[in-house]
Amino acid sequence: MDHLVSPSILTADFGNLGRDIKLVNKSVADWIHCDVMDGVFVPNISFGFPVIEHVRKISAKPLDVHLMIVDPDRYLTRFRDAGANILTVQYEACTHLHRTVSEIHNLGMKAGVAVNPHTPVTLLKNTLPFIDMVLIMTVNPGFGGQSFIMESYNKISELSKMIFSGGYNILIEVDGGIDISNARRLIEAGVNVLVAGNSVFSSDDPVETIRKLKRLE
Ligand code: DX5
Ligand code: ZN
Repeated sequence: MDHLVSPSILTADFGNLGRDIKLVNKSVADWIHCDVMDGVFVPNISFGFPVIEHVRKISAKPLDVHLMIVDPDRYLTRFRDAGANILTVQYEACTHLHRTVSEIHNLGMKAGVAVNPHTPVTLLKNTLPFIDMVLIMTVNPGFGGQSFIMESYNKISELSKMIFSGGYNILIEVDGGIDISNARRLIEAGVNVLVAGNSVFSSDDPVETIRKLKRLE
């Protein structure tokens, strides 16, 4: 399968968000990544439902919504109603993860689970049969524009083997510090979805940068 590219709007120009979403529409991006931060799970606050509804109205791409919030169960229905297609929760924020991912599926969305850099992927062993995607955080969540953590390659290989040996149909997404310099090695390690914020929206030509991330040029 060809890998997917999911530009993160966290580094978009929020004064011209509609314009930036239209750039993504006309690019070869597969999804659009929306980072929701609550100021509790992570030391930053980003945006919530009104922004996601706005993105939904303009975006021609599926919404890949990444929740960096405590107690996400309280808001799953609202994220579905706001337009999320793929909803990813943080492993560390869920006490009853199986219930949470079941509810995401009941609401008609794909379910992803994200792991922070300190969380071993082996902890997902009993969750893999129930999910569609694992998001390996390749920076500590909270901010765009941070440096990629090199140890992530080992986690990706380990997870890739777990998925293969279990015969699961699960995507591996990476998020944080992704650019054209590390994209190819990540795909070779088994990644299926590249999230990129800073490298896309701080570039001179976001459409061309997305094309390079897709073609690995
Ligand atoms: C970080 C977010 C990321 C972020 C990635 O907490 O989850 O999605 O937007 O940004 P870059 O690509 O700038 O590291
Ligand atoms: Zn994210």
